Amino acid sequence: MLSCAASEVRKLAGDCEHKDEQANEEEQSKLMCGIVGYIGAKPVLDVVVNGLRKLEYRGYDSAGIAILEDQRVKVLKSVGRLSNLEDKLASNTLNGHLAIGHTRWATHGKPSDENSHPHQDCSGRFAIVHNGIVENYLPLREELLAAGHQFSSETDTEVVAHLIEEMYNGDLLKTMVAVGQRIRGAYSLVVICKDHPDEFIAMRKSSPLIVGLGDGENFVASDIPAVLEYTRDIYVLDDGEMAMIRRDGVECFTLDGDPVEKEVYKVTWDAVSAERGGYDHFMMKEIHEQPKAIRDTLTGRLDETAGQVKLPELKLSTQEINEIDRIHIVACGTSWHAGLVGKSMLEKMTRIPVEVDIASEYRYRDVLHTSNTLVIVISQSGETADTLAALRDCKKKGLRVLAITNVVGSSVAREADDVLITWAGPEIAVASTKAYTTQLIALCLLSIYFAQVKGLMSSDDAHDWVTQLANLPQLAEQVLDTAPQLEKFAADWVHAEDTFFIGRGLDFSVALEGSLKLKEISYIHAEAYAAGELKHGTLALITDGVPVIAIATQPHLYEKTLSNIKEVKARGAFVLGITWVGNQDLAHSVDEVIYLPQQCAELSPVLTVIPLQLLAYYAAVARGNDVDKPRNLAKSVTVE
Ligand code: G6P
Repeated sequence: MLSCAASEVRKLAGDCEHKDEQANEEEQSKLMCGIVGYIGAKPVLDVVVNGLRKLEYRGYDSAGIAILEDQRVKVLKSVGRLSNLEDKLASNTLNGHLAIGHTRWATHGKPSDENSHPHQDCSGRFAIVHNGIVENYLPLREELLAAGHQFSSETDTEVVAHLIEEMYNGDLLKTMVAVGQRIRGAYSLVVICKDHPDEFIAMRKSSPLIVGLGDGENFVASDIPAVLEYTRDIYVLDDGEMAMIRRDGVECFTLDGDPVEKEVYKVTWDAVSAERGGYDHFMMKEIHEQPKAIRDTLTGRLDETAGQVKLPELKLSTQEINEIDRIHIVACGTSWHAGLVGKSMLEKMTRIPVEVDIASEYRYRDVLHTSNTLVIVISQSGETADTLAALRDCKKKGLRVLAITNVVGSSVAREADDVLITWAGPEIAVASTKAYTTQLIALCLLSIYFAQVKGLMSSDDAHDWVTQLANLPQLAEQVLDTAPQLEKFAADWVHAEDTFFIGRGLDFSVALEGSLKLKEISYIHAEAYAAGELKHGTLALITDGVPVIAIATQPHLYEKTLSNIKEVKARGAFVLGITWVGNQDLAHSVDEVIYLPQQCAELSPVLTVIPLQLLAYYAAVARGNDVDKPRNLAKSVTVE
């Protein structure tokens, strides 16, 4: 869990985001991207690129900079990782004392050079970088098109650049106050203008923004790590504030232009810790981000009053949904494990037979399909070679493909017929955590949606599902409180060589994911077994002290699982049980129990996986492993 210093880091580094969650949940949901700005005597591009590197955790599908040179605004941008931009910069000799930069996590418009920030107006007088969503960009775009503006990207951000051009009256501060009154949504914006070479403006509504205070130089950024190399004196802009930043000083205002006095915050913690939000590793940060990631994936897709799931992004018509007679789920690794849970949800709710395949197997298997087979590919990155190849094979065969992915504009998202985005935000740790839980949410939403369209779900049942889903983030939050118990358990059994995960039904699917997590980061050999299958061979491996993680959450299988637990206990296993509050009797059959808040059987994997992630994490830490970058593995496997 967080240390004191770490929670202080999180408080400040994430302060803005936490406050905004309540205020503006929907807008906040899809906000990542990183912003940096600098004015001063240091090599400006080095400062901005260094800052962007610290913010890549906020998004990394494109990057760009704008620099004020010889009273002209020059922009360089590039799709892909920051290194692509650095390559471009290396062959340019740009000089100046004022620059801004951006690293993007695509929301409006695919990742491309054109859609990368900074964006400019028609005259090239302004350049802006933006983190957030301008909700009313469509009417504004219409208005600006009618006024003769020409757009070169699909983004909501470019609208703001043209709006600034339209409203500019020579006074940058007053112009930005007026522009702020025209745009709705969540944003942090940084603007430079060639007529104002000695100042620039940063504004914050909902999305986080800090100002770094230097001596004869000043900085702005989405998060503190971007400036820590240069200064430890910070203004944390509050929601609804803006700053006029000059070399020799920073003035702060409300978005109405009224002056605001800010207190300087002195940062005492180190940059590495800050980048990870105060956690020691990205994996732990991402485990803790799950309640928010689940909420974000649900946002805009649940109608709690009507008791309905809405998936307006799907192009599948009612007739096409009714005609689906088979579903094939295809994925790799953790995404494949999500698919196993998805099969159960889809079959139960839609009564359509579902097969789940590992992509590298599916591609080379003589798959039987009908013309009405729907293929669902699941991929966090949207770039996994085998999954992408399977998608392409299916498309060639004329099959309809729906993708569940976390990355807007990824190859899988671009090439599938329908796309459901999981809004987990960038996942940095190789071991997937929040991507998995949000994939489960997406699969559940899809199952309910299909069942509703097919007329297979009563209104009461639909209401019930919607309520259960809406409550999940809060329950996931509670499950995170089991961390100390798991840390202790991991410490006790850190020298184990083999571990077994057992469960029945959906608990078995989660057991597979739990054993993968443990293997990939702790390097402890782990196997998952359907609890009823143990006696057909594996029971021979259970001897004194062998750790067994037994998951028992499925009500109709509880008694049966209990019998299997007794079988391993009788052979000397050391058993950690995971079950619901209420199944207190499990304590008599195991050595330790983790109790989770009650949840319906189908959604239980969303909660049961969290202690398994924590267990793997603590075991890896106790063994001194590189948790975020386990040996031999990669986050995105783009080779066969
Ligand atoms: C790699 C990662 C896994 C991931 C798998 C599939 O092996 O290390 O964590 O589950 O790829 O990735 P995808 O991006 O397609 O979900």
